Amino acid sequence: MSAEQDAEREFAHPDIVIQPHGPMLVRGAEAVRDESGTVHRVERPVVALCRCDKSSRLPWCDGTHKVIPR
Ligand code: FES
Repeated sequence: MSAEQDAEREFAHPDIVIQPHGPMLVRGAEAVRDESGTVHRVERPVVALCRCDKSSRLPWCDGTHKVIPR
């Protein structure tokens, strides 16, 4: 497989996807360390990490970003 094909395959199956005006989706993580150093175990294949800092369940996205005016 060529390097270009490798890159395309990786793009088709990324481990991290940034949602515009939304969370960061992470696939395949076993744990997430927040900015205070606390480690949060990941028990799902894909998790949504809050990027707006308004979630009531940090570091996880709870959908609050949808009601924040842009
Ligand atoms: S990104 Fe969804 S609540 Fe912050």
